[in-house]
Amino acid sequence: MTRIALVTGANRGLGRATALALARQGFGVVAASRSGDSDIVHAIVDAGGEAIAVRVDVADPASIDAATASALAGIDEKWNADTIDVLVNNAGVGLFAPLGAITAEDVDTTFAVNVRGPLLLTQALVPHLSQGASIVNVSSSLSRHVSPATSVYAASKKALETLTRSLALELGPRGIRVNSIAPGPTATDFNGGAMRDSVAMRTALSEQTALGRVGDPDDIADAITALVSSELRWTTGERIEVSGGVSM
Ligand SMILES: NC(=O)c1ccc[n+]([C@@H]2O[C@H](COP(=O)([O-])OP(=O)(O)OC[C@H]3O[C@@H](n4cnc5c(N)ncnc54)[C@H](OP(=O)(O)O)[C@@H]3O)[C@@H](O)[C@H]2O)c1
Repeated sequence: MTRIALVTGANRGLGRATALALARQGFGVVAASRSGDSDIVHAIVDAGGEAIAVRVDVADPASIDAATASALAGIDEKWNADTIDVLVNNAGVGLFAPLGAITAEDVDTTFAVNVRGPLLLTQALVPHLSQGASIVNVSSSLSRHVSPATSVYAASKKALETLTRSLALELGPRGIRVNSIAPGPTATDFNGGAMRDSVAMRTALSEQTALGRVGDPDDIADAITALVSSELRWTTGERIEVSGGVSM
């Protein structure tokens, strides 16, 4: 029976790499994205895997409900299955602004996507998770080390980690593991693509890591696939940093 993984923000960046990595591990992938993008589905199929696309805006509770129904219908149709084994709450937004430039709307948007979204999507999918399922919430190394102009973003990720720990306790009796992965600076579109495209930024951040470079999406994706594997079946409620040792 095909194991099923749902990944949010699967159209690009860490979510796309994670969707591809999970497909390589044999998961049927529900690639959830705001646009319902099917390019990632084609990429997975081209690599020999199986996937379907689902549309979700995690900031919109009605969209989460619709996506849940659509994912379950698609899973039934594609794999003749009715449960999900892995949920990766990856979709997220950054907010890099000094105190004086932050608006109430910025705060609400950041928390709606980074905290409320994962919470409501998890709530919607929990009845459909298999015994022994695994949830991974994508946090950030910035929940551990502070830097200027990251206050709201870092606070949202710390909140996500706290949800992670509490939900690990709530869902443990069903054998469901809940962990967070905390990436360090990683070369994606995030923060305007600065970690990928700005030599100055990349050099500065690389110098702050023990391993001397910023991360690649596959560094994070492979950590997520390892975390959901049975080798880590006894790990729950944890925050695992995958940052090459940034700002130690
Ligand atoms: N890259 C880093 O340095 C880094 C470091 C630590 C943590 N992270 C975390 O890693 C996760 C992925 O980031 P990334 O680096 O891959 O950044 P990215 O390339 O900017 O991708 C962000 C993803 O989140 C999706 N998203 C944003 N708002 C959404 C919403 N309301 N509903 C559904 N999807 C939404 C985006 O969809 P659209 O394409 O529709 O905008 C996109 O797929 C985020 O949670 C981020 O906080 C990244």
